[in-house]
Amino acid sequence: MATMRAAQVTEKGKDFDMVERDIPEPGEGQVRVKVEACGICHGDAVAKYGWWPEPIDYPRVPGHEVVGRIDKVGAGVGVWKAGDRVGIGWQGGYCFECSPCRSGDFANCVRPDITGLTYDGGFAEYMIAFEEGLAAVPEGMPGVQAGPLMCAGLTTFNSLRHSGAGPGDIVAVQGVGGLGHLAIQYAHKLGFYTVAVSRGKDGEALALELGADRYIDSAAADAAKELRALGGAKAIMATAPNSKAISAILDGLGPNGKLVLIAQTEEPIEVNSLHLLVGRKSILGWYSGYAKDSEETLAFTRLSGVKVMVEEYPFEKVNEAFEKMLHGKPRFRVVLRMGR
Ligand SMILES: NC(=O)c1ccc[n+]([C@@H]2O[C@H](COP(=O)([O-])OP(=O)(O)OC[C@H]3O[C@@H](n4cnc5c(N)ncnc54)[C@H](OP(=O)(O)O)[C@@H]3O)[C@@H](O)[C@H]2O)c1
Ligand SMILES: [Zn+2]
Repeated sequence: MATMRAAQVTEKGKDFDMVERDIPEPGEGQVRVKVEACGICHGDAVAKYGWWPEPIDYPRVPGHEVVGRIDKVGAGVGVWKAGDRVGIGWQGGYCFECSPCRSGDFANCVRPDITGLTYDGGFAEYMIAFEEGLAAVPEGMPGVQAGPLMCAGLTTFNSLRHSGAGPGDIVAVQGVGGLGHLAIQYAHKLGFYTVAVSRGKDGEALALELGADRYIDSAAADAAKELRALGGAKAIMATAPNSKAISAILDGLGPNGKLVLIAQTEEPIEVNSLHLLVGRKSILGWYSGYAKDSEETLAFTRLSGVKVMVEEYPFEKVNEAFEKMLHGKPRFRVVLRMGR
Protein backbone atom coordinates (compact mmCIF):
# COMPACT_ATOMS: atom_id res chain seq x y z
CA MET A 1 0.00 0.00 0.00
CA ALA A 2 1.23 3.51 -0.81
CA THR A 3 2.26 5.59 2.16
CA MET A 4 2.45 9.27 3.06
CA ARG A 5 4.14 11.42 5.68
CA ALA A 6 2.07 12.80 8.53
CA ALA A 7 3.08 14.97 11.50
CA GLN A 8 1.24 13.47 14.43
CA VAL A 9 0.95 14.31 18.08
CA THR A 10 1.53 10.83 19.46
CA GLU A 11 1.13 11.86 23.07
CA LYS A 12 -0.47 14.97 24.56
CA GLY A 13 2.00 17.85 24.85
CA LYS A 14 4.86 16.13 23.01
CA ASP A 15 6.63 17.32 19.84
CA PHE A 16 5.29 16.22 16.47
CA ASP A 17 6.50 12.85 15.21
CA MET A 18 6.97 12.62 11.45
CA VAL A 19 5.54 9.17 10.63
CA GLU A 20 4.80 7.13 7.50
CA ARG A 21 1.15 6.11 7.32
CA ASP A 22 -0.97 4.34 4.74
CA ILE A 23 -2.65 6.85 2.42
CA PRO A 24 -6.24 6.84 3.75
CA GLU A 25 -9.33 5.91 1.71
CA PRO A 26 -12.34 8.24 1.64
CA GLY A 27 -15.57 6.84 3.07
CA GLU A 28 -19.12 7.70 2.10
CA GLY A 29 -19.61 11.46 1.74
CA GLN A 30 -15.88 12.05 2.03
CA VAL A 31 -13.06 13.03 -0.30
CA ARG A 32 -9.32 12.55 -0.15
CA VAL A 33 -7.28 15.73 -0.55
CA LYS A 34 -3.64 15.92 -1.59
CA VAL A 35 -2.45 18.75 0.63
CA GLU A 36 -0.53 21.67 -0.94
CA ALA A 37 -0.12 23.86 2.13
CA CYS A 38 -1.40 24.14 5.68
CA GLY A 39 -1.21 27.14 7.99
CA ILE A 40 -0.28 26.73 11.64
CA CYS A 41 -2.85 28.41 13.85
CA HIS A 42 -2.56 29.09 17.56
CA GLY A 43 -5.68 26.88 17.67
CA ASP A 44 -3.52 23.87 16.74
CA ALA A 45 -2.10 24.13 20.25
CA VAL A 46 -5.52 22.89 21.42
CA ALA A 47 -4.85 19.54 19.72
CA LYS A 48 -1.22 19.43 20.80
CA TYR A 49 -1.77 20.27 24.47
CA GLY A 50 -5.24 18.78 24.91
CA TRP A 51 -6.92 22.10 25.80
CA TRP A 52 -10.39 20.78 25.10
CA PRO A 53 -13.32 19.90 27.37
CA GLU A 54 -13.49 16.32 26.05
CA PRO A 55 -10.53 13.94 25.85
CA ILE A 56 -8.73 14.01 22.49
CA ASP A 57 -7.91 10.71 20.80
CA TYR A 58 -4.15 10.47 20.24
CA PRO A 59 -2.31 10.04 17.97
CA ARG A 60 -3.84 13.03 16.26
CA VAL A 61 -2.75 15.01 13.19
CA PRO A 62 -3.62 18.73 13.62
CA GLY A 63 -3.94 21.30 10.83
CA HIS A 64 -7.10 23.22 9.90
CA GLU A 65 -5.87 25.83 7.39
CA VAL A 66 -5.65 23.41 4.51
CA VAL A 67 -5.48 23.92 0.76
CA GLY A 68 -5.11 21.06 -1.68
CA ARG A 69 -6.62 19.15 -4.55
CA ILE A 70 -9.17 16.35 -4.39
CA ASP A 71 -7.57 13.18 -5.70
CA LYS A 72 -10.31 10.69 -4.85
CA VAL A 73 -14.01 10.91 -3.99
CA GLY A 74 -15.92 8.46 -1.80
CA ALA A 75 -19.35 6.95 -2.48
CA GLY A 76 -22.27 9.34 -2.65
CA VAL A 77 -20.24 12.54 -3.07
CA GLY A 78 -22.34 14.88 -5.19
CA VAL A 79 -20.75 18.12 -6.23
CA TRP A 80 -17.01 17.56 -5.89
CA LYS A 81 -14.76 15.64 -8.25
CA ALA A 82 -11.12 14.62 -8.50
CA GLY A 83 -8.96 17.59 -9.56
CA ASP A 84 -11.03 20.25 -7.73
CA ARG A 85 -8.97 22.68 -5.67
CA VAL A 86 -10.39 23.03 -2.19
CA GLY A 87 -9.82 24.50 1.25
CA ILE A 88 -10.74 23.02 4.62
CA GLY A 89 -11.11 24.94 7.86
CA TRP A 90 -11.71 24.29 11.54
CA GLN A 91 -15.36 23.29 11.09
CA GLY A 92 -14.95 20.35 8.75
CA GLY A 93 -18.47 18.96 8.82
CA TYR A 94 -21.81 19.05 10.63
CA CYS A 95 -23.90 16.54 12.54
CA PHE A 96 -27.11 17.21 10.48
CA GLU A 97 -29.12 16.21 13.55
CA CYS A 98 -29.02 19.06 16.04
CA SER A 99 -31.64 21.75 16.00
CA PRO A 100 -29.49 24.41 14.20
CA CYS A 101 -28.54 21.86 11.50
CA ARG A 102 -32.18 20.85 11.02
CA SER A 103 -33.08 24.48 10.46
CA GLY A 104 -30.21 24.89 7.96
CA ASP A 105 -28.05 26.93 10.34
CA PHE A 106 -24.94 24.76 9.86
CA ALA A 107 -22.59 27.46 11.16
CA ASN A 108 -24.09 26.84 14.59
CA CYS A 109 -24.01 23.04 14.53
CA VAL A 110 -23.56 21.98 18.16
CA ARG A 111 -21.49 18.88 17.30
CA PRO A 112 -19.37 19.84 14.30
CA ASP A 113 -16.53 17.66 13.04
CA ILE A 114 -13.47 19.71 13.92
CA THR A 115 -10.52 19.39 11.58
CA GLY A 116 -7.36 18.31 13.36
CA LEU A 117 -9.19 17.72 16.63
CA THR A 118 -12.04 15.23 16.27
CA TYR A 119 -10.47 13.85 13.06
CA ASP A 120 -7.05 14.15 11.41
CA GLY A 121 -6.19 17.39 9.62
CA GLY A 122 -3.73 18.89 7.16
CA PHE A 123 -0.30 18.33 8.73
CA ALA A 124 -0.02 15.41 6.30
CA GLU A 125 0.49 14.81 2.61
CA TYR A 126 -3.09 13.55 2.24
CA MET A 127 -6.16 13.97 4.40
CA ILE A 128 -9.77 12.85 4.40
CA ALA A 129 -12.40 15.59 4.46
CA PHE A 130 -16.20 15.70 4.64
CA GLU A 131 -17.74 16.99 1.42
CA GLU A 132 -19.87 19.58 3.23
CA GLY A 133 -16.77 21.15 4.80
CA LEU A 134 -15.07 21.99 1.49
CA ALA A 135 -14.66 25.48 0.06
CA ALA A 136 -13.73 26.05 -3.60
CA VAL A 137 -10.35 27.78 -3.84
CA PRO A 138 -9.53 29.86 -6.96
CA GLU A 139 -6.77 28.38 -9.13
CA GLY A 140 -4.76 31.61 -9.22
CA MET A 141 -4.31 31.93 -5.46
CA PRO A 142 -1.12 30.31 -4.07
CA GLY A 143 -1.84 27.60 -1.48
CA VAL A 144 0.37 29.24 1.14
CA GLN A 145 -1.76 32.40 0.87
CA ALA A 146 -5.14 30.71 0.72
CA GLY A 147 -4.49 28.24 3.59
CA PRO A 148 -4.56 30.86 6.39
CA LEU A 149 -7.82 32.22 5.01
CA MET A 150 -9.53 28.96 6.00
CA CYS A 151 -9.26 29.88 9.68
CA ALA A 152 -7.42 33.13 10.44
CA GLY A 153 -9.09 34.95 7.55
CA LEU A 154 -12.48 33.33 7.91
CA THR A 155 -12.70 33.91 11.66
CA THR A 156 -11.75 37.58 11.52
CA PHE A 157 -13.71 38.52 8.38
CA ASN A 158 -16.80 36.64 9.53
CA SER A 159 -16.78 37.98 13.08
CA LEU A 160 -16.17 41.55 11.91
CA ARG A 161 -19.12 41.45 9.52
CA HIS A 162 -21.34 40.13 12.34
CA SER A 163 -19.96 42.44 15.03
CA GLY A 164 -22.66 45.07 14.73
CA ALA A 165 -20.15 47.77 13.73
CA GLY A 166 -20.90 49.88 10.66
CA PRO A 167 -18.71 52.05 8.40
CA GLY A 168 -17.04 54.81 10.38
CA ASP A 169 -17.46 53.04 13.73
CA ILE A 170 -14.45 52.49 15.96
CA VAL A 171 -13.23 48.90 15.89
CA ALA A 172 -10.23 47.81 17.95
CA VAL A 173 -8.12 44.77 17.12
CA GLN A 174 -6.29 43.46 20.17
CA GLY A 175 -3.32 41.24 19.25
CA VAL A 176 -1.45 41.57 15.97
CA GLY A 177 -0.60 37.97 15.11
CA GLY A 178 -1.91 35.46 12.57
CA LEU A 179 -5.52 36.55 13.07
CA GLY A 180 -4.84 40.13 14.09
CA HIS A 181 -2.86 41.17 10.99
CA LEU A 182 -5.80 40.09 8.84
CA ALA A 183 -8.40 41.60 11.20
CA ILE A 184 -6.73 45.03 10.89
CA GLN A 185 -6.81 44.85 7.10
CA TYR A 186 -10.42 43.60 6.93
CA ALA A 187 -11.57 46.24 9.44
CA HIS A 188 -9.91 48.96 7.35
CA LYS A 189 -11.37 47.64 4.08
CA LEU A 190 -14.84 47.34 5.67
CA GLY A 191 -14.67 51.05 6.45
CA PHE A 192 -14.20 51.00 10.22
CA TYR A 193 -12.02 53.45 12.13
CA THR A 194 -9.46 50.80 12.99
CA VAL A 195 -7.41 50.81 16.17
CA ALA A 196 -4.63 48.22 16.56
CA VAL A 197 -3.72 47.30 20.15
CA SER A 198 -0.49 45.45 20.88
CA ARG A 199 2.32 45.37 23.42
CA GLY A 200 5.36 47.49 22.65
CA LYS A 201 6.36 49.96 19.97
CA ASP A 202 7.69 47.36 17.53
CA GLY A 203 4.40 46.63 15.81
CA GLU A 204 3.27 50.21 15.32
CA ALA A 205 4.67 50.98 11.87
CA LEU A 206 3.46 47.71 10.42
CA ALA A 207 -0.01 48.02 11.99
CA LEU A 208 -0.38 51.47 10.40
CA GLU A 209 0.85 50.08 7.09
CA LEU A 210 -1.80 47.34 7.29
CA GLY A 211 -4.46 50.05 7.48
CA ALA A 212 -4.85 50.86 11.18
CA ASP A 213 -5.87 54.48 11.81
CA ARG A 214 -4.43 54.43 15.33
CA TYR A 215 -2.03 52.25 17.28
CA ILE A 216 -2.16 51.79 21.06
CA ASP A 217 0.84 50.34 22.85
CA SER A 218 -0.90 48.51 25.71
CA ALA A 219 2.41 48.13 27.57
CA ALA A 220 2.80 51.91 27.82
CA ALA A 221 -0.83 53.08 28.05
CA ASP A 222 -4.21 51.95 29.41
CA ALA A 223 -5.82 50.72 26.17
CA ALA A 224 -9.39 50.91 27.59
CA LYS A 225 -8.88 54.54 28.62
CA GLU A 226 -7.42 55.42 25.21
CA LEU A 227 -10.40 53.85 23.44
CA ARG A 228 -12.86 55.70 25.70
CA ALA A 229 -11.06 58.94 24.89
CA LEU A 230 -11.82 58.27 21.21
CA GLY A 231 -15.52 57.79 22.06
CA GLY A 232 -15.48 54.08 22.88
CA ALA A 233 -15.24 51.11 20.53
CA LYS A 234 -18.28 49.65 18.81
CA ALA A 235 -16.40 46.38 18.66
CA ILE A 236 -13.20 45.04 20.18
CA MET A 237 -11.83 41.99 18.38
CA ALA A 238 -10.00 40.08 21.12
CA THR A 239 -7.42 37.91 19.34
CA ALA A 240 -4.65 38.03 21.99
CA PRO A 241 -4.79 34.76 23.97
CA ASN A 242 -4.37 36.45 27.34
CA SER A 243 -7.27 36.73 29.77
CA LYS A 244 -5.74 39.63 31.75
CA ALA A 245 -5.33 41.68 28.58
CA ILE A 246 -8.92 40.94 27.53
CA SER A 247 -10.32 41.79 30.99
CA ALA A 248 -8.37 45.04 30.95
CA ILE A 249 -9.63 46.26 27.56
CA LEU A 250 -13.33 45.52 28.16
CA ASP A 251 -14.00 49.00 29.53
CA GLY A 252 -12.86 50.48 26.21
CA LEU A 253 -16.27 49.66 24.69
CA GLY A 254 -18.66 52.47 23.85
CA PRO A 255 -22.47 52.32 24.24
CA ASN A 256 -23.95 49.07 22.83
CA GLY A 257 -20.41 47.93 22.03
CA LYS A 258 -19.40 44.28 21.76
CA LEU A 259 -16.23 42.57 22.80
CA VAL A 260 -15.88 39.82 20.22
CA LEU A 261 -14.09 37.00 21.96
CA ILE A 262 -12.01 35.10 19.42
CA ALA A 263 -8.99 34.03 21.46
CA GLN A 264 -9.04 30.98 23.65
CA THR A 265 -7.45 31.71 27.02
CA GLU A 266 -6.32 29.34 29.74
CA GLU A 267 -7.48 31.55 32.63
CA PRO A 268 -11.03 32.88 33.12
CA ILE A 269 -11.79 36.42 31.97
CA GLU A 270 -12.84 38.88 34.67
CA VAL A 271 -15.82 41.08 34.03
CA ASN A 272 -16.71 44.13 36.06
CA SER A 273 -20.51 44.05 35.82
CA LEU A 274 -20.76 47.85 35.70
CA HIS A 275 -18.57 47.86 32.58
CA LEU A 276 -21.31 45.95 30.81
CA LEU A 277 -24.50 47.24 32.45
CA VAL A 278 -23.85 50.87 31.84
CA GLY A 279 -24.16 51.33 28.10
CA ARG A 280 -25.68 47.86 27.45
CA LYS A 281 -22.44 46.34 26.28
CA SER A 282 -21.90 42.66 25.63
CA ILE A 283 -19.39 39.90 25.06
CA LEU A 284 -19.87 37.79 21.96
CA GLY A 285 -18.03 34.50 21.61
CA TRP A 286 -17.10 33.77 18.01
CA TYR A 287 -16.23 30.48 16.38
CA SER A 288 -14.84 30.54 12.81
CA GLY A 289 -17.58 29.77 10.28
CA TYR A 290 -18.47 27.16 7.70
CA ALA A 291 -17.57 26.42 4.10
CA LYS A 292 -19.77 29.09 2.51
CA ASP A 293 -18.26 31.70 4.84
CA SER A 294 -14.80 30.52 3.72
CA GLU A 295 -15.70 31.06 0.06
CA GLU A 296 -17.01 34.53 0.90
CA THR A 297 -13.79 35.26 2.80
CA LEU A 298 -11.71 34.21 -0.22
CA ALA A 299 -13.84 36.41 -2.49
CA PHE A 300 -13.63 39.47 -0.22
CA THR A 301 -9.89 39.04 0.28
CA ARG A 302 -9.28 39.02 -3.48
CA LEU A 303 -11.67 41.86 -4.14
CA SER A 304 -10.27 44.13 -1.45
CA GLY A 305 -6.58 43.28 -1.90
CA VAL A 306 -6.05 42.08 1.69
CA LYS A 307 -2.55 40.53 1.96
CA VAL A 308 -1.89 37.33 3.83
CA MET A 309 1.62 37.76 5.24
CA VAL A 310 3.29 34.39 5.70
CA GLU A 311 6.51 32.70 6.73
CA GLU A 312 6.83 29.45 4.81
CA TYR A 313 8.39 26.27 6.20
CA PRO A 314 8.96 22.95 4.44
CA PHE A 315 6.75 20.24 5.96
CA GLU A 316 9.65 18.37 7.60
CA LYS A 317 10.38 21.46 9.77
CA VAL A 318 6.96 21.24 11.45
CA ASN A 319 8.35 21.35 15.02
CA GLU A 320 10.47 24.43 14.29
CA ALA A 321 7.52 26.05 12.53
CA PHE A 322 5.13 25.36 15.42
CA GLU A 323 7.61 26.78 17.93
CA LYS A 324 7.97 29.90 15.78
CA MET A 325 4.17 30.35 15.79
CA LEU A 326 3.93 29.91 19.55
CA HIS A 327 6.93 31.91 20.78
CA GLY A 328 8.82 33.37 17.84
CA LYS A 329 6.86 36.47 16.73
CA PRO A 330 6.47 35.46 13.06
CA ARG A 331 5.34 38.02 10.48
CA PHE A 332 2.54 36.86 10.65
CA ARG A 333 1.31 33.39 9.75
CA VAL A 334 3.53 30.33 9.70
CA VAL A 335 2.56 28.01 6.83
CA LEU A 336 3.77 24.49 6.00
CA ARG A 337 4.50 23.73 2.36
CA MET A 338 3.97 20.09 1.40
CA GLY A 339 5.74 18.00 -1.20
CA ARG A 340 8.93 16.01 -0.96
N1 LIG B 1 -12.60 31.63 17.68
C1 LIG B 1 -12.06 30.97 16.66
O1 LIG B 1 -12.74 30.42 15.80
C2 LIG B 1 -10.58 30.96 16.53
C3 LIG B 1 -9.96 30.71 15.30
C4 LIG B 1 -8.57 30.78 15.21
C5 LIG B 1 -7.81 31.07 16.32
N2 LIG B 1 -8.45 31.28 17.51
C6 LIG B 1 -7.69 31.69 18.69
O2 LIG B 1 -7.31 33.04 18.50
C7 LIG B 1 -6.11 33.31 19.20
C8 LIG B 1 -5.08 33.94 18.26
O3 LIG B 1 -4.68 33.01 17.29
P1 LIG B 1 -3.48 33.37 16.30
O4 LIG B 1 -3.31 32.18 15.44
O5 LIG B 1 -3.69 34.71 15.72
O6 LIG B 1 -2.27 33.45 17.36
P2 LIG B 1 -0.84 34.14 17.17
O7 LIG B 1 -0.48 34.20 15.74
O8 LIG B 1 0.04 33.47 18.14
O9 LIG B 1 -1.11 35.67 17.62
C9 LIG B 1 -1.47 36.03 18.92
C10 LIG B 1 -1.05 37.47 19.10
O10 LIG B 1 -1.52 37.91 20.38
C11 LIG B 1 -0.51 38.74 20.91
N3 LIG B 1 -0.60 38.84 22.36
C12 LIG B 1 -0.41 37.85 23.28
N4 LIG B 1 -0.60 38.36 24.52
C13 LIG B 1 -0.88 39.67 24.36
C14 LIG B 1 -1.15 40.73 25.27
N5 LIG B 1 -1.14 40.52 26.57
N6 LIG B 1 -1.41 41.95 24.75
C15 LIG B 1 -1.41 42.18 23.42
N7 LIG B 1 -1.15 41.21 22.51
C16 LIG B 1 -0.88 39.99 23.00
C17 LIG B 1 0.78 38.11 20.49
O11 LIG B 1 1.76 39.11 20.51
P3 LIG B 1 3.26 38.85 20.94
O12 LIG B 1 3.91 38.46 19.66
O13 LIG B 1 3.66 40.16 21.50
O14 LIG B 1 3.25 37.72 21.97
C18 LIG B 1 0.46 37.65 19.07
O15 LIG B 1 0.76 38.65 18.14
C19 LIG B 1 -5.67 31.97 19.81
O16 LIG B 1 -6.16 31.90 21.13
C20 LIG B 1 -6.40 30.94 18.94
O17 LIG B 1 -6.61 29.72 19.61
C21 LIG B 1 -9.80 31.23 17.63
ZN1 LIG C 1 -7.36 28.27 13.58
